Amino acid sequence: MPIVAPSLLSANFLNLEADCNMLNESEADWYHLDVMDGRFVPNISFGPMIIDFFRKATTKICDVHLMIVEPEKYAEQFKNAGADILTVHIEACHHLHRNIQQIKSLGMKAGVAVNPHTPVSLLSDILHDIDLVCLMSVNPGFGGQKFIPHTLEKIKQLRKIIDEKSLKVQIEIDGGVTLENAASIIAAGADVLVAGNTVFKSANPKETIAKLKAL
Ligand code: DX5
Ligand code: ZN
Repeated sequence: MPIVAPSLLSANFLNLEADCNMLNESEADWYHLDVMDGRFVPNISFGPMIIDFFRKATTKICDVHLMIVEPEKYAEQFKNAGADILTVHIEACHHLHRNIQQIKSLGMKAGVAVNPHTPVSLLSDILHDIDLVCLMSVNPGFGGQKFIPHTLEKIKQLRKIIDEKSLKVQIEIDGGVTLENAASIIAAGADVLVAGNTVFKSANPKETIAKLKAL
């Protein structure tokens, strides 16, 4: 059964409480919270202050995806805001190992996200130190984009590397996940499905989450 992590980027920000209540009552496992700085990605979303509100609205795991440069400057703020998992982009970190040590020393689980063009082989020397790899299946920055099919090949490659090393690192797929492609994503070896538009733009979000869980 996959872990389902709805992305609140696609929620209704005029009435977040209703969307949080829906998620809390649903089978969703994690809140996926997308932080964008307008520098690493061509969009700006929200920061620690908003995450603090989400933290107060749920007991579910807060999975914070940082699409920002210099994430080390803000790791402590995200910890204080209530992040359980903090994911940084390999492309944004000159000293990735140091960034991961910082996240773990603050008491959070550590994730590394990779853009569609970044080979998964670049992760082999950091996999021992992390809890999660977030494979971007769209170019980061916006919800509602189309799944890049080559991601399936990357999932298989990464699954093999993780299994060969007997590690417990989770593979999270982020971007363009739908009810139609989710089964093939899981079959390729993914553990966590992020879903923004598929959940929040559906007629019955709770039912959609249940369908993703049932895959
Ligand atoms: C994109 C974000 C995603 C996004 C996913 O940069 O990291 O988490 O919200 O949205 P959908 O599922 O609509 O592609
Ligand atoms: Zn994300």
